[in-house]
Amino acid sequence: MRVLQVLAVSKILTSHLSRTHRPSASRQMSTAASSLKKSPIFRTLGLIGGKWIDAYDAKTIQVNNPSTGEIIAEVPFMGTLETNDAISSASDAFNSWSKLTAAERSKYLRKWYDLIMANKEELGQLITLEQGKPLKEALGEVNYGASFIEFFAEEAKRIYGDIIPATLGDRRLFVLKQPVGVVGAITPWNFPLAMITRKVGPALACGCTVVVKPSELTPLTALATAELALQAGIPPGVINVVMGNASKIGDALLASTQVRKITFTGSTAVGKKLMAGAAETVKRVSLELGGNAPCIVFDDADLDVAVKGTLAAKFRNSGQTCVCANRIIVQEGIYEKFAEAFSKAVRNLQVGDGFTEGVVQGPLINEAAVQKVQTFIQDAMSKGAKVLLGGKRHSLGMTFYEPTIVTDVKSEMLLASEEVFGPVAPILRFKTEEEAIRMANNTKAEALEYGLVGVNEGIISTEVAPFGGVKQSGLGREGSKYGIDEYLEVKYVCLGDMNRS
Ligand code: SIN
Repeated sequence: MRVLQVLAVSKILTSHLSRTHRPSASRQMSTAASSLKKSPIFRTLGLIGGKWIDAYDAKTIQVNNPSTGEIIAEVPFMGTLETNDAISSASDAFNSWSKLTAAERSKYLRKWYDLIMANKEELGQLITLEQGKPLKEALGEVNYGASFIEFFAEEAKRIYGDIIPATLGDRRLFVLKQPVGVVGAITPWNFPLAMITRKVGPALACGCTVVVKPSELTPLTALATAELALQAGIPPGVINVVMGNASKIGDALLASTQVRKITFTGSTAVGKKLMAGAAETVKRVSLELGGNAPCIVFDDADLDVAVKGTLAAKFRNSGQTCVCANRIIVQEGIYEKFAEAFSKAVRNLQVGDGFTEGVVQGPLINEAAVQKVQTFIQDAMSKGAKVLLGGKRHSLGMTFYEPTIVTDVKSEMLLASEEVFGPVAPILRFKTEEEAIRMANNTKAEALEYGLVGVNEGIISTEVAPFGGVKQSGLGREGSKYGIDEYLEVKYVCLGDMNRS
């Protein structure tokens, strides 16, 4: 059978809720917020050397619920000094953590996994509260995030070296794999749990220790996850969490000679800065950056499969993932039919507060995200595109946006050339397969050289497969057996004079 739908990112190749629903959604949210605040995993301080601490100058930053604007908590606004202390703690802890056997580290990780799963409901609620995604999706993220800890608990025991046939008879050649050292992990707001565990799981499995800097927009999930690591018995200093002044924290991580690796998920612009900054101390870097994923639908596609796959690939997390289908490239023979069927499906997506039953589209993370979406839509319309559905703020207000479809999109429009990171599906038209490939390639991330390819499938992320982009979409891989290599040094050992009796 011919390809029905190819999803491609340089990473992947490829209102209906009325105002009357609002008070009950808010009530539910407030109930969730107040019960979460009583939970032992609700932490609002930074974690350094196993101690929960304030910023040294007592400055704080507010954490808001993007659905209502309500202030959920205040967390420390930390900077250079706290980060340096976190690095020292991680460095001290490295001496003993890296010396544990793989089986011992594996047991700690397994216990951490069990505790994350035992606290799944509360973690899911926390994600919805501070990030906005619907509870069902948030609970899915807890499963997804926990799966990295479970996977790397097992993988810890399979970090093999090599024996190399020697070129001289009196020598024996070995290759050992050793932890790189202290890791700085800078994580985004769109997956407040999974992007931490996908980095910290393999790091800890190898024997590395970490300083995590979660997004200031979603620190509570990170802190709760760190609390569960302490409950699992993971020793003080192995995981440290600092948040606040992103550039000061980033600079301190980059300047430190003790930090041997930076792992980052976020924008290409920041990734480039980190890569340049890491040069001074020759640190390793892994970067998960922006994407501009095309989704290609051919004339002979099964319409239902194509609509279902595109819907999942585009509207997951309200379009706020780096592998969301950004450019839906549809062959001319099926273009109108696809647009109509897709529009019917998108029209049914229920928008609202993530705690409301049936809601599948939450708010965007903040006002800047809404502004960006609007700029992209205005740009497309001024250049001849048509809004088939949505195209404006949702009547719910705040940062809610109507799920949107834009047709007649051309490559020169912002919607096609840059990552929109919102619930907007731009549909482009193509005639031949060659043209589709050329259009798919027409992005800064460039060429048909993709880190992930989904065929007939819209969501392909899993802990057992490598995740990552190529060119300006990223460097390195996360998850799977490939993800663990990012935290390992290869050491060659030559034993000489072996024939002496
Ligand atoms: C991301 O958006 O950075 C991650 C998405 C995924 O893991 O599927």
